[in-house]
Amino acid sequence: MPANICKQLNNVKGLDKTSYVTSLLSQMTLKEKIGQISQFHNDDIKLDSSIKMGDVGSVLNEVNRDTINKLQRLATHESRLGIPLLMGRDVIHGFNTIFPIPLGQAATWSTELVETCANIAAIESSNNGINWTFAPMIDISRDPRWGRIAESLGEDPYLCSTLGVAMVKGFQGEELSDNTSIAACAKHFAGYGASESGRDYNTTNIPENELRNVYLPPFKALADAGVSTFMASFSDLNGVPVTGNSWLLNDILREEWQFNGAVVSDWESIPQLVTHGFCEDQKSAAFEACNAGIDMEMTSDVYAKNLPHLIQDKKVNSEQIDTMVRRILTLKYDLGLFKCAFTDPTLSVEHLNSLHLSAAKEAATKSCVLLKNNNQTLPLSTTKISTMAVIGPLADDGYEQLGTWVFDAKVNRSITCLKAIKDYVTDSVDVKYVKGLETSRSNNQDSFNDARKIALSADVAVMILGEEAILSGEAHCRSNIDLPGCQEQLIDAIYKTGTPIILVIMAGRPITLEKILPKVDAVLFAWHPGSMAGPAITELLFGEVCPSGKLPVTFPRNVGQIPLYYSHKNTGKPASDATFVDINDIEVRAPQTSLGMTCTHLDTHFSPLFPFGFGLSYTRFEYKNINVNMHSISVGESVEISATVCNIGQVDAEEIVQLYIRDLVGSVTRPVKELKGFQRIFLPAGQSETVIFNVHTDELAFYNRQMKLKTEPGLFNVWIGGSSDAELTAGFEVLLKPAKI
Ligand code: BGC
Repeated sequence: MPANICKQLNNVKGLDKTSYVTSLLSQMTLKEKIGQISQFHNDDIKLDSSIKMGDVGSVLNEVNRDTINKLQRLATHESRLGIPLLMGRDVIHGFNTIFPIPLGQAATWSTELVETCANIAAIESSNNGINWTFAPMIDISRDPRWGRIAESLGEDPYLCSTLGVAMVKGFQGEELSDNTSIAACAKHFAGYGASESGRDYNTTNIPENELRNVYLPPFKALADAGVSTFMASFSDLNGVPVTGNSWLLNDILREEWQFNGAVVSDWESIPQLVTHGFCEDQKSAAFEACNAGIDMEMTSDVYAKNLPHLIQDKKVNSEQIDTMVRRILTLKYDLGLFKCAFTDPTLSVEHLNSLHLSAAKEAATKSCVLLKNNNQTLPLSTTKISTMAVIGPLADDGYEQLGTWVFDAKVNRSITCLKAIKDYVTDSVDVKYVKGLETSRSNNQDSFNDARKIALSADVAVMILGEEAILSGEAHCRSNIDLPGCQEQLIDAIYKTGTPIILVIMAGRPITLEKILPKVDAVLFAWHPGSMAGPAITELLFGEVCPSGKLPVTFPRNVGQIPLYYSHKNTGKPASDATFVDINDIEVRAPQTSLGMTCTHLDTHFSPLFPFGFGLSYTRFEYKNINVNMHSISVGESVEISATVCNIGQVDAEEIVQLYIRDLVGSVTRPVKELKGFQRIFLPAGQSETVIFNVHTDELAFYNRQMKLKTEPGLFNVWIGGSSDAELTAGFEVLLKPAKI
């Protein structure tokens, strides 16, 4: 393997980064420059020759180390200038070791764990030669029909920003140039999660104020945290597809936020500007994307084919191209690729090693959310049960438990629930297994009798149901988010046996559970937990660990309630239990009136089935003594809010303590609650802790009608509790800074 690779490095030794890049740029032909802003797919039959010609800046989806080293050698030794390649891959929730889907990771509310998972993904993928991942996806997601909610960090700007920053730290490490660091990518800028009706790629219409207050904050947080790159969304934002949206990419990202990293298009999204009806042909698409600030084109060749003509026509100037190329070269420099672009096989780390798997298990354990636990059905005890029925299409399927977009997973290393349960109970419990349904979508009930039989003879039935991996993720949206196939009927069949049911759900999105909830004794919502699903779930079921995950997204009762999220506005006629009228309570021919009417549906309660931030434990936590250290503070100061959290149960456990605020009056209306802090704490049984949050008035700022970020004076409510339904409340006032005397 060649030790040092860059011809240029020797030519321009001793220069600082900017001078180095400038010197390199000054030697490049226009064709080579356009090469640097073109990303090829690894299947492209012209890949090798194009690399030698200097026509390729990045390659997508090659993961074989030898092949990557070969491609880097072509780039660095056989192209005229020897510029190394960016090797891009979707490393979304692990590389070979698979962690919970991002939505599951968000349910851990643990910055440490999320950072660790991303770091391990970076270690494994960089060891194969990947140096750029297209993650994290930080699209605020408030529509569970949208398949990509699985890849998201949920509905809330604060949680999403905090965990997104942790992911970037994990991927990018201390220094981007470290061998085990890879560049991260904040995607999909912006608003993609608001796709109409939850159909992927659909139109988004987001008023600027909502865009700035809800959808943009995670992107701003990642830009501030030093994320290397951004990806533009596929979607049409308020009539202008983001790939050609100069306002979003130039005015906001570059001017307001001063982001200097590279912006990549999404897959073929530049030619799609024609399909959107935004551009008449590919030449105009190249013009719009280039002017909007897309630095690199993913997989298509609209730039390569059209930019030379646009320059000739003086529609695009060469400085624009230089700026784009400079960003790509700077990223390569930061990644240390000019020093060495090769991955040394002798330094190879073991993938899926015990450390990686134990992090995967911990993440899976902490991501599971206990939604119901009647009469302390859980935890199970091997001394109290002698026979256990395990039923369901996801109980013993090492592939489906991994979730969406796991191209590099090693399925043979997955440990399933069935295997882990059997290993755990050894001979002390007789474990009987019937799949019940071939897949989660299956409608064939032929095995129901067998499932009923084992349930009848068992002390407890653990049903492991949900969605197959392919039912969520990109372009996999659903209009109905009940358990698919005949799974509800399978629950009915087992319910009729009278055996207590523990329902474990693996899914890529919230599932509507209202109909089945009364038929089961306990529900553990496990998302798609990844490689270590089995051991993680087993330890939770048997009480080795106490469930501690909390929902990063609201669970609706039914699809008709969507969008449903905790930080909604109050409206002029807010719904309340006191005013709620059920469809069945309306008198026949009742006169039409708007008096006393409120913002609700008649045929379902206005509340969600499970609120954001919710999750049960095997213990109980009591919250008391909320205290605000100053009842009024001036803009520019901080307030300290604290509460005592007591573990009043019998079990040591972790709790996610959440802080919410409400700005009571705003020049634009403010949400009824907004998350402003959280802490994951460990509390032994019987012990208490005072949890303190510091909130600076900057954190209370929002975009006003003039689209200026301002903290407005006035009264604020605060709550501290274990979910967005927290009731323990206090208040404080923000005063305008006293005028200087
Ligand atoms: C997705 C991106 C992804 C890219 C490359 C696109 O279809 O929208 O999120 O990074 O493919 O795989």
